[in-house]
Amino acid sequence: MTEKRFEICPTNEFDVGDRRIVTLDGFSVGIFNVDGEYYAMKNDCPHQRAPLCEGKLGGTTESDSPGEYDWVRPGQVVRCPWHGWEFDVKTGESVFNPHKVKAKTFEARVEPSTGGNAAADGGCEGCDVDLEGDEPPVETYDVEVERGTVVVYL
Ligand code: FES
Repeated sequence: MTEKRFEICPTNEFDVGDRRIVTLDGFSVGIFNVDGEYYAMKNDCPHQRAPLCEGKLGGTTESDSPGEYDWVRPGQVVRCPWHGWEFDVKTGESVFNPHKVKAKTFEARVEPSTGGNAAADGGCEGCDVDLEGDEPPVETYDVEVERGTVVVYL
């Protein structure tokens, strides 16, 4: 089955800790920015189909021994607004039974903007030179995406 690609918005309009709830191909989908990484989850709680992604974002606790616990996964756990079931937005797994109860997730990533930067769009002249041998004939540089777009695949 072919994936469908949906551009959501530029990364500079989607801050850490924010979420977007959008309709993609007839599905309501929540997209979350957790520490600069993007995650997409169906806005449909597996319990009784509440709009899960509208719930409060927080973390959860973990414990290795009685009476001691740590606050973990801050900003990564969404609590269903109807009955409080909690899900990790990175994986869709429930906090209480991660192997059996999951919310549907989708691939979300940042891709270069198509906003007219010829180099970022692969449109520069002479960039398709075939290299031979082990070493490139010119000095190379690290490249980072500065103007990215958040993209979700269903
Ligand atoms: S509908 Fe989400 S916990 Fe019940």
